[in-house]
Amino acid sequence: MNYRWFVIALAVHIIAVVVWIGGIAAVTTVMLPTMRDLDSKEQKVWMFAQLENRFRPQARIAWLIVGLSGIYMVEALHAWVWFASVHFWWMDAMVALWLLFGLVLFLLEPLVVAPHLERELASRPAEALTRIQTLHWIILVVSLFVIAIVVAGVYGWL
Ligand code: HEM
Repeated sequence: MNYRWFVIALAVHIIAVVVWIGGIAAVTTVMLPTMRDLDSKEQKVWMFAQLENRFRPQARIAWLIVGLSGIYMVEALHAWVWFASVHFWWMDAMVALWLLFGLVLFLLEPLVVAPHLERELASRPAEALTRIQTLHWIILVVSLFVIAIVVAGVYGWL
């Protein structure tokens, strides 16, 4: 294994995780509560569209970089067998979260959730926002938990 390239891949991996999960934290704790405070339904729908258009491409690119750098590191460590071992369950959790986000970012959100939500924001904004916010809190807490268990796993704590 080329140690220098491994460290570069790990740094890229972490930077992309920070951009992606940090973005989710900002949306959850700052933007969604701000959206709730907006006066009109039109403003809420407008802000939702802004969030979608600005955050979605950024999250997709970060998702791709996390996956590519992760796959590179698995190959460099010859660690594909880890995925079959119970001892490395945190590796499975890391990849499972990545796959789940891929499904949401590329399929579920743009094709199913967003069109439905936009209509709901225009008709019943309070209920729609409560649901979006609850969902984002769950995603955020699960993501932070996965980050914690991966660090603990890498340093032999699990
Ligand atoms: C295809 C998906 C992914 C693959 C293949 C992957 C693979 C890896 C590998 C091989 C390492 C280095 C392990 C070691 O040094 O022994 C690593 C580190 C790390 N990964 Fe991932 N990863 C993926 C997705 C994710 C996701 C979604 C997150 C965040 C939620 C994440 C967070 C981390 C963190 C925080 C570390 C650094 C741990 C440390 O060095 O203390 N990874 N990943």
